[in-house]
Amino acid sequence: MDRRDFIKKSALVTMGSLLMASPLGRLVAKTNESDLANEASNLVNEPNKTDKKMKVLLINGSPRRSGNTFTALSEMAKILEQQGIEAEVVHIGVKPIRGCIACGQCHMNALGKCIFDDDVCNKIIEKLDTADGLVFGSPVYYGQPNGSLLSLMQRMFYAAGSKVQNKPAAAVCVCRRGGATAAFQTLTMPFQMMNMPVVTSQYWNIVYGAAPGEASLDTEGIQTMRTLANNMAWLLKKIHTGDPDYPERESTNWMNFIR
Ligand SMILES: Cc1cc2nc3c(=O)[nH]c(=O)nc-3n(C[C@H](O)[C@H](O)[C@H](O)COP(=O)(O)O)c2cc1C
Repeated sequence: MDRRDFIKKSALVTMGSLLMASPLGRLVAKTNESDLANEASNLVNEPNKTDKKMKVLLINGSPRRSGNTFTALSEMAKILEQQGIEAEVVHIGVKPIRGCIACGQCHMNALGKCIFDDDVCNKIIEKLDTADGLVFGSPVYYGQPNGSLLSLMQRMFYAAGSKVQNKPAAAVCVCRRGGATAAFQTLTMPFQMMNMPVVTSQYWNIVYGAAPGEASLDTEGIQTMRTLANNMAWLLKKIHTGDPDYPERESTNWMNFIR
């Protein structure tokens, strides 16, 4: 089976399981009338999709463990905890993180993780199983997110797309002086092609600071982090305690420009 066939077949299987998991699928599967009545009332009243505590994973892309990105993410974590949502800050650290080499092994073998297991990538992918929301924090390097974080994100999203889709996501950028809006835009690009609701704040999610800890002096930036965390909590509660059904989605119509 070539890669294109594999992708088409996977999409059909996924669509089938999505249909049977959907309210329509469940209704079709019911044969007994009272089952149907119960199911119909559940659909209207289904109050709580899950009783488990919701969790947000905050990924610190900075090599500086206690730097300004950490300060910004910690403010978010504090608010999320106050909202009853578990918040875990994970540091990508200082060891090399390789880039995606487009080998496609993750897809062809339906691994759900990267074929390369020699850096932090798969460890963070594992954490996606229990995460309901995601935050990617980055220092600004030459007007861009730092390279290690981008390498991580590209491999994560390519290898484990099904584990991030439908999960609200936010990007946070920290800089000394300039380039944060460009970096911020770059970080949000993957969310917008992975069916991830992008969580916003009162301003772009940017905090200023150079030496570690200086970010705490940027009161507006830190407030922006609190608003962002509150918005993330609101959206998660809407999703997990309201109507749990996601929009119907078409399978991707792959069309490469060079054939
Ligand atoms: C390689 C490098 C490039 C940087 N480029 C920029 C830049 O383009 N714009 C800027 O305002 N700050 C730049 N900075 C400063 C950092 O963004 C700033 O110190 C930030 O607070 C670092 O976050 P951290 O403490 O979480 O690592 C750069 C720092 C480094 C190490």
